[in-house]
Amino acid sequence: MYPSGTLRIHELTSEERAVYATLKPECIPEHVAIIMDGNGRWAGHRSLKRFLGHQQGANAVQLVTETASRIGLPWLTLYAFSLENNLRRPRAEVNFLMRLLKTYLESNLGRMMDNNVRMKYIGRTHELPPEVQDKMRWAEEATAGNTGTTLTLALNYGGRSEIVDAFRSLAAEIDLKHTSPGRITEEDIHRHLYTAHMPDPDLLIRTSGEMRLSNYLLWQIAYTEIFVTERLWPDFRGIHLLEAIADFQRRERRYGGLSEGSGEVDEEAERVKIAAG
Ligand code: FPP
Repeated sequence: MYPSGTLRIHELTSEERAVYATLKPECIPEHVAIIMDGNGRWAGHRSLKRFLGHQQGANAVQLVTETASRIGLPWLTLYAFSLENNLRRPRAEVNFLMRLLKTYLESNLGRMMDNNVRMKYIGRTHELPPEVQDKMRWAEEATAGNTGTTLTLALNYGGRSEIVDAFRSLAAEIDLKHTSPGRITEEDIHRHLYTAHMPDPDLLIRTSGEMRLSNYLLWQIAYTEIFVTERLWPDFRGIHLLEAIADFQRRERRYGGLSEGSGEVDEEAERVKIAAG
């Protein structure tokens, strides 16, 4: 399913178009989530300060979002700032990331509009500095009518705290409606997650080679395909998103079932075999 009127393949670079030509357009994932990692290493390899890595990382966010919007990707969810980043990074780096986010939103709103991108956020965003929250709300409201890719930034986000928040809100609902906890379903939990309005990710990309989930979308990635690249986030571009989608399209998703052509079990033949010892 594509968001309406957003396929703009002619705007891809010629290199991107060559990769796109290898894709099955009807099997573009609905939702891609990305753990953007490696900003610090990118800077370190060039003997630059870490904040320059984050700055280049913000540039990569915009370029990848624009490619996503051109191919009609409905949902793109980026891990921009974790709860752990907030608690464990030096205050100077956290403050820099907050300023960068504000500047990023201010300077890229026009490009979001040109690309028909709708902005949303997940996480304990009410704990972010008020001026950052104001800017976030401003960008969300300005892009609310856009019908292309929904870019969700996970900010002050943690998968476990999301589940805690969902349980708290579900418990309050149970209390209010006097229903029985024994009737809780997976659907009820889904309804109380920050991501209740979106489908689960089909593909999770992690840059910089680490084989970790880092507390990202823990509930939602139960059946998500994972693609890890050694490339550091500031070097990640639209073409690499397309390559990850090409890899995804070669996978077979079974959701706990059997692969096609693995053969029906002939129950009668099995019974005969067992009876014959
Ligand atoms: C990891 O790099 C990345 C982050 C801390 C989060 C991602 C942040 C950005 C891409 C920049 C800002 C984004 C927006 C939307 C304005 P790292 O510092 O952990 O890298 P390292 O593991 O190499 O040290």
